[in-house]
Amino acid sequence: MAASVISADRLLLFGATGDLARRMLLPSLCALDADGLLPESLQIIGTARSEMSDQDFRNMAREALETFLPDQRRGGMAHFLNKLSYQALDASTLEGFDALAEKVGPSARDDGEGGLAIFLSTAPSLFGPTIAGLQHAGLTGDHVRIGLEKPLGTDLESSCAINDAVAEAFSEDRIFRIDHYLGKETVQNLLALRFANILFEPIWNSNYIEHVQITVAETVGLESRVAYYDDSGAMRDMVQNHMLQLLALVAMEPPTSFDATAVRDEKVKVLRALRKVEANETVTGQYRAGAIGGEAVPGYDEELGKDSTTETFVAIKAHVDNWRWKGVPFYLRTGKRLPERVTEILVQFRCVPHSIFESMGAGMQPNKLLIGIQPEENITLSFMAKVPGLGTDGVKLREVPLEITMPDAFVGQHRRIAYERLLLDLIGGDQTLFVRRDEVEAQWQWVDAIRAVWEEAGTKPKTYTSGTWGPSSAIALTERDGVTWHD
Ligand code: BG6
Repeated sequence: MAASVISADRLLLFGATGDLARRMLLPSLCALDADGLLPESLQIIGTARSEMSDQDFRNMAREALETFLPDQRRGGMAHFLNKLSYQALDASTLEGFDALAEKVGPSARDDGEGGLAIFLSTAPSLFGPTIAGLQHAGLTGDHVRIGLEKPLGTDLESSCAINDAVAEAFSEDRIFRIDHYLGKETVQNLLALRFANILFEPIWNSNYIEHVQITVAETVGLESRVAYYDDSGAMRDMVQNHMLQLLALVAMEPPTSFDATAVRDEKVKVLRALRKVEANETVTGQYRAGAIGGEAVPGYDEELGKDSTTETFVAIKAHVDNWRWKGVPFYLRTGKRLPERVTEILVQFRCVPHSIFESMGAGMQPNKLLIGIQPEENITLSFMAKVPGLGTDGVKLREVPLEITMPDAFVGQHRRIAYERLLLDLIGGDQTLFVRRDEVEAQWQWVDAIRAVWEEAGTKPKTYTSGTWGPSSAIALTERDGVTWHD
C-alpha cells in the first residue's frame, strides 16, 4: 500500500480562523465526528496569524459551530472541540514552522505510524512560503498529503507556478486540489445516474441529444469579497472550476472503475476536447441595482464603490470536439444577482424521427432530462403521454414529468456539507473527487483562450438589472439556435 493511503491521524488547517474554516471546515469536521466518521485518534491543529491559545481557538470554533451548523448535527460538540489545538504562525517567514511541527507532533517529521493531512485555505500569495516552511520543518514526508483550496492561480501561467511550487515538496498522488462542487452529493449522483443505469448511456450522444444547458445562478452579490472578486470575475470564479467540472461529468466516457485515475483520465479528455470559443459565442454582463425576492439590491459598481469591467455574469456556447458530442452545443451560464439560486443541468433530447400523431394535429415535445443540483435535489424526465379522453378530434398528447425528489427517495439522510466528503477523503487519502493537475491546466487553457478573445475584441460586460437572467444578449445567444434557456 502506498504511504499516502494511510489514514491521517493529524489534520493541520492553515487559515483556521478564516471565513472558510468557520463556515465550512470546522462545521464539516464536527458533523463528521458526531457521525463517528473521523478516526478516533485524529487530532486537528489550527494555524493562522492571530495569537491565541488552544482554548481561545476552541471558543472560536464553538461560536462558528453554533452559527453555521444546524442544531441536530452538533451532537458531539464537546468531543469534537477536544480534538482541536492551535499554533499561531506567520507563514510568510520560516521562523515559526519548527514550533508548528512540534505542535503537530514530533512523529509528523518522520514517516511514523499515522499520516498527516494538511489543508491550505490561505491567500495564494502564501502558498509558496508555506510550502517552503513545511519543507524546512520536515513536514512534507511521504506520509503527508496536502489539500489546496482555490483560487489556484488566475491563469494557466500562475496556476503552473503554484503547481510547480507544490510539486517541489509533494508528489501528485499527495496533492488534493479542491473543487467543492465535487463534494456535493448531487454532483456525485451524476456519475450514478449515468453509469449505474443502462437507460441513459445508449442515448447519451449526438444522435439523441440536441443540446445541454448548465446553469449556476446565484442571488448573492459581492458579499464581503470585494478585492478577490473584482480581480477574478465569473469566468475565473465559477466557469474555470465548478462549471467545467460539471460539464466534464456530463460529457465524459464511462471510466473503467470508480477510481481516482480512471475517473480523472476520462474527465481530462473532455476538458482537452473543448473547442476554442469564438467572440460571438460568449456574453458577459455586470449587474446593476434591481430587486431580488422583492428586496432592493445595489449594483455591482455601487457595492464596489468604483467603475469596473469585471464580469458578474457569463454565458458561453461550448463544444466538445469528439465523436460522442459532434454538433451538440453545451450552453453554460452563471451569474450573481440572478432571480433565484439554482444549479441545474438540462439535457435536451432530439425529436422522434417520425411522428405518427402529426396528422391528428397532436403537438410533440422532445424529451428532456433536468438534473437539479441545488437548492432542489431532483431529477425530472419529461416525456409525452396521451391526454385521457374519448374525443373524436384525434389523439391529444401532453408533456408530463417523471420526477424523483432525492430527499424523498432517501428519507432520514441528512443533507451534508460538500466539505464533509472532501475532508473525509483528504484524511482517508482518496483522490477521486479532487482535481488533478492536468485537469486544472486544461481548464485554464480553455478559459485563458476565451479571455484572450475578449481582450482582442475589446469585449466589455453589458449591464443587467439585478433580479433578471443577465443581459438580453444571453437570451439571443441561444435563441439564434432556436433554443430557450430553462428558467
Ligand atoms: C465559490 C465562488 O467557489 O462558489 C463563489 O468563489 C460562489 O463566488 C460559490 O458563490 C458558490 O458555491 P455554492 O456551493 O453556494 O454553489
